[in-house]
This record gives sequence, structure tokens and C-alpha cells, in this order.
Amino acid sequence: MSDPRFPLEFVWGAATSSYQIEGSPLADGAGESIWHRFSHTPGRVVNDETGDVACDHYRRMDDDVALMATLGLRAYRFSVAWGRVIPEGTGAVNRAGLGFYDRLVDRLLEHGIEPFLTLYHWDLPAALDDRGGWLNRDIAGWFADYAEVMFRALDDRVRHWITLNEPWVIVDAGYVNGVHAPGHADLGEAPVAAHNLLRAHGEAVARYRETGCHRIGIAVNLEPKYPVSDSTADREAASRAHAYLNRQFLDPLFRGSYPQALARIYGGAWREPAGEEMERISRPMDFLGVNYYTRSVVRASDEPPFFAAAVPQTGAPHTEMDWEVYPRGLSDTLSWLVDRYDAPPIYVTENGAACPDITVPGGSVEDADRIAYLKAHLKAVLDVRSRGVDARGYFVWSLFDNFEWSLGYAKRFGIVRVDFSDASRKRTPKASANFYSRVIDSRGGSLFD
Ligand code: FCB
Repeated sequence: MSDPRFPLEFVWGAATSSYQIEGSPLADGAGESIWHRFSHTPGRVVNDETGDVACDHYRRMDDDVALMATLGLRAYRFSVAWGRVIPEGTGAVNRAGLGFYDRLVDRLLEHGIEPFLTLYHWDLPAALDDRGGWLNRDIAGWFADYAEVMFRALDDRVRHWITLNEPWVIVDAGYVNGVHAPGHADLGEAPVAAHNLLRAHGEAVARYRETGCHRIGIAVNLEPKYPVSDSTADREAASRAHAYLNRQFLDPLFRGSYPQALARIYGGAWREPAGEEMERISRPMDFLGVNYYTRSVVRASDEPPFFAAAVPQTGAPHTEMDWEVYPRGLSDTLSWLVDRYDAPPIYVTENGAACPDITVPGGSVEDADRIAYLKAHLKAVLDVRSRGVDARGYFVWSLFDNFEWSLGYAKRFGIVRVDFSDASRKRTPKASANFYSRVIDSRGGSLFD
């Protein structure tokens, strides 16, 4: 009988992002980011919370890496704050800012932890937003120049590069719904921002082929859409929602074209892109990062522009984000990536849950719901692997409780608790951290205990 566990080379990690954990956003010459600006604008974030201190990781990095080693992590996915490295977004490099990531990578490697580096996890230099940000076509070149600085500095030690984190969220939350920085609410901007994000990705990949010698990919958030009934109207509604969320970025990346449904969704704002640009966008990648949290069930509706509405799954388990727990959606999604796109090797670059953590006397944190969530999703990965999907690694979101964007600190995703009420920002591994250590140790064998 074949071994039901994960292979020896499977990558076990945890993920974070710069603005969500680092704190000290303006230290050592860093330029302001759009998230600094946004969180300091009253009313944008729950309780007007900011990333000014967050997990204070910028000042506690050595101890944090030592903690990762104690947990047995084999890999760590983090992001670089563009404005720490290039304060104005273009031009002069700030050696002190670059030095922080240089040291982080060294510490990780000293502990045998493989760095997975994300170049952009949403904290655009504010100076670039002043020049139009993702709406300015020049940003593709700005991003590639910044990426090249990072490749030249760290590609001797970093073997996995991720260009962008979740371009769909950048567009939908930042430009369509205004709930994330830069806080615009204009559907007409969406196709412009989306196309420029894809162009930026493509230029960074091209630059990597000239200057780097390991692996580069992107991390997309995927959320399968299931029609609530078999009716043609509901199935078409699910397919529109699917085109907007899941195919908007993947079709250009892997097939060099946008889904036709987008022309209808974006109406007058839609422009057919030049073929040559689509070729540059669809340059081959070495791997695909998938962030998966939930699914949605969809019905037809009369509401433009999607003519589709989510159907709440009352009765099913939900996390504190009100996201349905649906592990089958992860296996369905990974299989779909292979069927539709013949996807390159896949890493689950984010998966996890915000849960009510119960602190018991003595200080330990019992998070049985998170353990159940992680267990079910890891089994889903194992399941698709057994069906031939080349899923090579898994990163829990998140290593730490952290700044959950416009929801502030109330939603806790960490396998390590961070005490935000206290300047010490004390870290306490939760029961889920112990669970995850055992999974790593047993290569998944303990999932079946
Ligand atoms: C993802 C983001 C990550 C975190 C999780 C909960 O969309 O990439 O930063 O907010 O959701």
C-alpha cells in the first residue's frame, strides 16, 4: 500500500505580510505606505487601529525566527514593504530597509527555514499612489525595477519569489469597494488596475529571467462558486462570479486572454488589451501560489453588474470572518487548476481561520475550531495529491495574530497568540501550533490519530 502521508520534500510553512506584523512603519528611513495613510484616516479601520506597532516584528525579528524554529516550521512566507527598500517607490534604495530583509533571510536560513518572499502584499509606497498607483501604466516598470533590486540583493539565498499577493483583492477591495487602501469605489477603475497589476507581474517575471536563477510565481486567492440550483440562470450566475473572481487573473496568466464575461461586467470601462501585452503577461511561471479560505454558493439576481448573489449556507460551520468552512472547495479548486490550466506546481500559500480562541487558566490557548479547520484542509491537500495534483507545500495563515486590514486586531488568525494589550506583545503558541508541529513531524500521519 502506498504511504498515505506527505512526501519528505513537502514544504511546511506559515505566512505573514509586512504591514500586518512589522510595526515601525516609518523606521530607518522607510517611505509611507498606502496602508499607513489609510489606517491613519479616521473611520477606515475598525476602532481606527493602525499597523504602527502591530506584532512589533520589525524589532523582534530574531526572536520570532527562533520561535518559528521551535515550532518546527520548514518554510516561512513573508512580504517585503516596497517603501522600506525604496522610500519613494522609484529611485534611491534605502540600505537600512533592505538590510532588515537581508538579515531576516539570513536568520531563516541559519535555522533551516526556507524563505518564500512576496514582493507585494498591498503596502504600496504612498508616493506612487500620489502618481496614480495601480491606475498608472508606468507602475509595471516601477514594480519591475523594485523587483530587480530585491532579486539582485537576495536571489543568492531566496529560491521562491512571489510577485503579487491576491491581485483580485487589491482590485475588488481597493478600487471597487473602497474597503482597503487606497479606498476608491469605482467599478470603472477595476479593469485598469487589474491590467496594470498583471503587466507589473509579467515585467517582474521577465526581469527575473534576466537576473535570477531560481523560481518565481504569483499568489492568487481562489474561491469556487457553486450554483445554488441546476437552473440555467443560476449556473450562468455562478459562472459570471467565477469569471470575475477566479478567472480574471488566471486566464490572462495561463491563456493570455481575459474571460469574455468581464466585458459585460465592466461595460463601458472595458478595453480590449493589446495582444503583445497579453503575451508578456502570460510568460511561464515556475509555480502557482493559491490562497484558499472558503467557497460561495450563488444564485441569479437582477443586480448589475454581476447579476449574481451569494446564498448564505446557514447551518454549515463558519469562521469568525463569517466564511463557510468548506474543505472540499480546496480540493475542487486545485483539481480545476490542473484541468483548466495545466497548472505548474502548486503551493497553498495561505489557508487558515479566524476563531474565538479560549485562553485557559495557566495561559494556554485552546483553539479547537482552528485545529479542526486546518486538519480538514490538510486532508483535502493530501486527497488531491493522491489524485495526481502536484501540490508541493502548505502555509498556514497565519503565524501570528495580526492586523487584519480594515478589521483591525479583532480577528485572530494566528497559530501563535499575540497579546496586543501589552507593550511586550507577548507571543503564546496556541494548541493549533502544537497540532501543526506534530503534523509536520509526522508528515501528516498525525492527521489520522
Ligand atoms: C488574505 C490576505 C491576508 C489575510 C487573509 C485573512 O486575503 O492575503 O493578508 O488578510 O486573507
